[in-house]
Amino acid sequence: MATRPDQPASSEIEAAQPQAAVPDALTRWLGRLGYVGASAVLVATAVLLALGAHAAFAALSGETYSLRFAAEIAAVMFAVATPIVLYAQRVIRQLDSSRRVLKRMTERLAVAVDSAERANVAKSQFLANMSHELRTPLNAIIGFSDLIQAETFGPVGNARYIEYLKDISKSGHHLLGIVNGILDLSKIEAGRASVQDEEEFNVAAVLDASLRMMRPLADREKIALELAVEARGLRLVAVERMVCQILLNLLSNAVKFTPAGGRVALSAVRTPEGGLLVAVADTGLGMTPAEVKIALTPFGQVQSAQGRKHLGTGLGLPLAKAMMELHGGSLRVASAPGQGTTVSLLFPPERVAIRADAGEAREAAPQQNAGDPARRVA
Ligand SMILES: Nc1ncnc2c1ncn2[C@@H]1O[C@H](COP(=O)(O)OP(=O)(O)OP(=O)(O)O)[C@@H](O)[C@H]1O
Ligand SMILES: [Mg+2]
Repeated sequence: MATRPDQPASSEIEAAQPQAAVPDALTRWLGRLGYVGASAVLVATAVLLALGAHAAFAALSGETYSLRFAAEIAAVMFAVATPIVLYAQRVIRQLDSSRRVLKRMTERLAVAVDSAERANVAKSQFLANMSHELRTPLNAIIGFSDLIQAETFGPVGNARYIEYLKDISKSGHHLLGIVNGILDLSKIEAGRASVQDEEEFNVAAVLDASLRMMRPLADREKIALELAVEARGLRLVAVERMVCQILLNLLSNAVKFTPAGGRVALSAVRTPEGGLLVAVADTGLGMTPAEVKIALTPFGQVQSAQGRKHLGTGLGLPLAKAMMELHGGSLRVASAPGQGTTVSLLFPPERVAIRADAGEAREAAPQQNAGDPARRVA
C-alpha cells in the first residue's frame, strides 16, 4: 500500500520516538533477557562500576583498598540502583508498547483511508459511466418529442398530444440538466476532468452574457440585476464554458433565493496580488454557517424558514466550487439569515491578464434584469 504524503510513514513515527542513549544492539540484547534479567544485569553493572571506581581511586591516591568499604559501597549501590533500574525498565516497556500501538493504529488508519478513497473513486466512476449511458436515450427522447411537436412529418392531430409532448420535452431537459450536473461533478471527483481546453477571454463580456441570460427570470421575479467590472480589458485564462456555468449557477441561486424587490449584484475586481475576484451578492434569504456547509455538499439543500418551494437538485453550488478548484481557484460563501449571500470566486494571478486593446470591457455598467438559468453552457 502506497503511503500518501499527508500521512506519516511508520518509519517517521519510529523516528519521532525518544531515542535511547544506549546503542540499539545493546537495547535489543537487554530486551531479550526479559524484565528481571535486564534489571539484574543493569544493577550488577552499576555495582561493578562503583567497585571499579573505588579500586581506581584507592590505587591513584595510594590508600589501602578496604574490602569492608567496598562491600558497603556495593550494598548502597545495590539499594539505590535497583528501584531506579526497575522503574526505568517499566517506563521503557510502556513507551515501547505505546509505540507499537501507535504504529498499528497508523497502519490501520492508512488502510481505512486508502479503501475510502478507492470507494469514492469507484462511486464517481460508476456515476460518470451511468450518467453517460443515460444521456444518449435522454437526447433521443428530447429530440423526438421536439420533432413530433414541430409536426415535421405531418400533423399530430389532437392538441392534447402537443401539450403532452411539451411536458415530455420539459421533463427530459430537466433530467438532462441533473444528469449533466452529476456527470460533471463525478468526473471532477474521479480526477477525469481537466482544464486542457482553456483559452484567454474577456471577463466583462462573459459576465455581461451571463447577466443577459438571467434577465427574463429576474424580470419575472422583479429582481434588479447590477454589473460592476473594475478594470478595463481584464482577461482570464480558463475554460470559458465552465466559467459561464459557474456564473449561471450562482446567479440562478441568487435570483431563486431573493424575494421580489431584491437586488443581485455581479462584480469583478483585481486583487492586490493580481488575482481576479468575482462576486455574486444578493439581498435574499441568506443562510447560517451550518446551512452554508450543507449547501456546499452535493445534493445538499437548505430548508428555509418559508419551506422549500424552489426547484433544484442541490448540485449547482458544489459543482461551481469543484470547477473553481479545478482552475486552481476557490469559492467562498458569506451569508447571514435575512441579510443575503455573497459568493466570491477567486482566480489566481497566473490566470489573469490585462490587454490595453480590449475595448469590449464595460466599466461599472449597471444592468436591469437578466435571463434564463441554463444549467449548462455547451
Ligand atoms: N444565494 C443563496 N441564498 C440563499 N440560499 C442559497 C443561495 N445559494 C444556495 N443556497 C442554498 O443552498 C442550496 C444548494 O444550492 P445549489 O445551487 O447547490 O442547489 P439548488 O439551487 O437547490 O439546485 P440546482 O442543482 O438546480 O442548483 C440551495 O438549495 C439553497 O438552499
Ligand atoms: Mg442552484
